[in-house]
Amino acid sequence: MAKYTVVTMPGDGIGEVVLPEAVRVLDAVGFDAEYVHADIGWQFWVTQGNPLPDRTVELLRRHKLGLFGAITSKPKGQAKQELAPELRDKGHEYFSPIVAMRQLFNLDVCIRPCRSFPGNPLNFVRQKAGGGYDEPTVDAVVFRQNTEGLYCGVEWTDPPQVVRNALGMHPKWKPFADVPSADLAMSVRLFTRNACRRIVRAAFEYAKKHGYKSVTICEKPNVLRETSGMMEDVAREVKADYPNIEHWSTNIDAQMMWLTKNPEDYGVLVAGNMFGDIISDAFAGLVGGLGFACSGNIGDEVAVFEPTHGSAPKYAELDPPIVNPIAMILSAAMLLDHVGATKMAVRVRDAVAAVVREGKVRTYDMLRLPGGAKAIGQGAATTTQMTDEIISKLG
Ligand code: NAI
Ligand code: MG
Repeated sequence: MAKYTVVTMPGDGIGEVVLPEAVRVLDAVGFDAEYVHADIGWQFWVTQGNPLPDRTVELLRRHKLGLFGAITSKPKGQAKQELAPELRDKGHEYFSPIVAMRQLFNLDVCIRPCRSFPGNPLNFVRQKAGGGYDEPTVDAVVFRQNTEGLYCGVEWTDPPQVVRNALGMHPKWKPFADVPSADLAMSVRLFTRNACRRIVRAAFEYAKKHGYKSVTICEKPNVLRETSGMMEDVAREVKADYPNIEHWSTNIDAQMMWLTKNPEDYGVLVAGNMFGDIISDAFAGLVGGLGFACSGNIGDEVAVFEPTHGSAPKYAELDPPIVNPIAMILSAAMLLDHVGATKMAVRVRDAVAAVVREGKVRTYDMLRLPGGAKAIGQGAATTTQMTDEIISKLG
């Protein structure tokens, strides 16, 4: 029997393309695991009214380790329309299955490393004052609170009267008091002290373990005084246990500007759910974009690893496939880290680094070509060729 069982959830679109590629790399590096397939995504919403079927939840509960590709989410109206006729008007509400999974298993610590690989033509470059360019080395790791904040799911259009009454107790409610409910939408930004503590502590621990000099809290406490304010309070408290790591705080908007001015100054960053989502995509843009952006969703018991990109439906059906499997493969390397297979994780990352440095095999995104079947004729590698090249470089 294999040492590990990994629940593989390809999901929709290019999730089905890239996930098997990551498994090929895990096999090639000698990871002692077996893989069980689990259903997730749009077709299960359409046909069963549930994009995260109970059987998938059960498999994750049992095996505790997951690899996820990507899912397709569509707006509320469209979700209703596409639901099978026999399931309509039965109280089914679409909710993103990956967000649901994070909440169900309390995968509250989301880690998104954004590191530049030398030789990647997509790396951020900066004009120097005296002419010419330099290419700062980006090595940022975003810790995103993954279960609360603006994505907690407490939201309404047409809120019930009791909700309106409760909000009426707040002095700032006055301008909204006369807005008809049907014209009122609200998404609640909820922070708990416990979750703030967990994400901030995880970030400081990571910084300590991996030798980062600073942890930067990216929130907006001057305006979001309660939620961002709580994260700041907690950070000051947690920092006391880490005398050798600096605690910086930036406002999320300013941070978005600074990250293209001096990205090399930042190490570990922490943010609530939505700001963390944004800042991690922004940092990913400096190191190759969605084709390179990997992540882990970590709870006390269960951990699920996924590329941060979505299902990119327009490329899903291309044969041969053209999308970059590196984000998914780096996510699999994070899974290796998580189970303590550090040497294998390093071998995978080194192999990716070698392929990028050599520059002979590049997917369409790395060549800055428009996506589409034509890209192959223009010199782009297929998804499979990229994986083959990475496997050939495994030391
Ligand atoms: P997306 O990430 O699927 O694609 C945006 C663009 O990024 C693509 O058109 C493509 O140009 C590029 N791209 C993405 N992955 C790539 C890869 N591996 N290699 C090369 N290029 C890549 O985001 P989009 O188009 O906003 O959303 C499509 C669907 O995915 C939506 O239904 C959305 O809800 C869902 N989504 C799901 C996520 C998840 O499963 N965690 C995350 C983000 C979006
Ligand atoms: Mg995102």
